Amino acid sequence: MAKYKIAWMPGDGIGVDVMDAARVVLDKLRLDAEYVHADIGWEFWCKEGDALPSRTIDILKNTTCALFGAITSKPKDEAERELIPDLRGKGLSYRSPIVRLRQMFDLYCNLRPCKAYPGNPLNYRDDVDLVVFRENTEGLYAGVEFRPLPDEVRATLLKHSSAMGRFKDVPANDIAISARIITRKGASRIVRSAFDYAKGNGYKSVTIVEKPNVLRETSGLMIETAREVAKDYPDIQLWDTNIDAQVMWLIKNPKDYGVLVTSNMFGDIISDLCAQLVGGLGFASSGNIGDEYAVFEPTHGSAPKYTGQYKVNPMAMLLAAKLMLDWLGESDKAAALETAIAGVVKDGQVRTYDMGGSNTTLEIAQAVAERL
Ligand code: NAI
Ligand code: MG
Repeated sequence: MAKYKIAWMPGDGIGVDVMDAARVVLDKLRLDAEYVHADIGWEFWCKEGDALPSRTIDILKNTTCALFGAITSKPKDEAERELIPDLRGKGLSYRSPIVRLRQMFDLYCNLRPCKAYPGNPLNYRDDVDLVVFRENTEGLYAGVEFRPLPDEVRATLLKHSSAMGRFKDVPANDIAISARIITRKGASRIVRSAFDYAKGNGYKSVTIVEKPNVLRETSGLMIETAREVAKDYPDIQLWDTNIDAQVMWLIKNPKDYGVLVTSNMFGDIISDLCAQLVGGLGFASSGNIGDEYAVFEPTHGSAPKYTGQYKVNPMAMLLAAKLMLDWLGESDKAAALETAIAGVVKDGQVRTYDMGGSNTTLEIAQAVAERL
C-alpha cells in the first residue's frame, strides 16, 4: 500500500492542464502515493446540481490531503441557465466548492508564500521572500451579514453601541451590516501557525498586520492574542503594523518583512499584492491547512479561454505541490522540487507565454522533472 493517499482534483479549465504538469513532476520524484481522482467543478454543477458532489467529500475524508487545480464559477442567473433541464427551477443554488471545503474541513490556515525566483522577468523586484498567513474561516468573510437589517438586530446594536446612534433612522433596506468575527481560538491558531513556520524556517520575526487603533475590539483581540502566543516563542520577535501602512511598505521595502499574519480580508488583499511582486498568477500557490487535512492549490482560476491548450504556466501548481510535500514531511523532495523550479526560471530557456516564451505547460513540467 502506498504511504499516502492523495485526493486528485483537477477541476475544470486549465485546472486540468496544470494538474497534468504536477503529475509529471510528482512521478519523477517517485512520491509514494496513490492518487484518487475526485470530481469537482462546473461540469458537476451543470449535470448534478452540485459542484462538490458528496462522493468527493467521502474521498477527501479518506485521503491524507488533496491537490486541487481550478474550477469555473459563474453568477447566479447563468448558473441556473446552465443546469440540465431536469434540474432547473428546483431552487438549487451554487456555492463555491473551495469555500465549502475550507469550512467543512476547518482549513483555517491559508498559507501563501511569495518568493522572487531570480531571473523571472515577471518579478516586480528580486528581493522578495514573504510568507502570508491568512485566517481562512472567520473575520469579515464569516458570512454573517444583514440586509434588510432586522429590527431586533438594530435595537440590540443601539442598546450596546453609542456609535450605532447615527444609523438609528436609516430604512432597513438602505443599510447593510457585515459582522467582523474574530475569536480568541481563531486568532490564536493562525498566529501559532505563523510562529511555528517562522521557527521551522529560521525567521527572526513575525509581523501581525491589523488596524487596532480603529478596529479596537476585533483587531484588538488579534493583537492581544498574538502577544500571548508570542510568549511561547522567545527567540522570535513579534512586530505589529497597520494594514494601510503595511501595503505601502510591502512595495517600498519588501525585504524588511518575512512572515506576515493577519485576518481573513486583510490577508486576501495583501496576499494578492505579495503574489504580484513575484510574478503574479503564474507563480502564486497556496495551502488551505487545518489540523487534520489540507488542500493545496494554485491561486489562479480556470482561465476558460486557455482550456486544454496546455499553454498556461504550471509553476503556481508545481509550487502548490511543493507546499504539499512540505506538509507531508517530505522535506527533501520539497526542497529538490523548489531547486528545480528555481533552476528552470533562472535558466530562462523554457518559458510559457506569460514569461515571454512559447513553451507548453508540459514542456515546463518536463524541464523541471529533468532537473530532479
Ligand atoms: P483566472 O485566474 O482564471 O485568469 C485570469 C487571467 O490570468 C487568465 O485569462 C490568464 O490570462 C491569466 N492566468 C491565470 N492563470 C495563469 C497561468 N497559470 N499562467 C498564465 N496565465 C495565467 O481568473 P478569472 O478569469 O477571473 O476567472 C476565470 C474563472 O476561474 C471564473 O469562473 C472564476 O470564478 C474562476 N476562479 C476560480 C478560482 C479557483 O478555482 N480557486 C480562483 C479564481 C477564479
Ligand atoms: Mg483572493
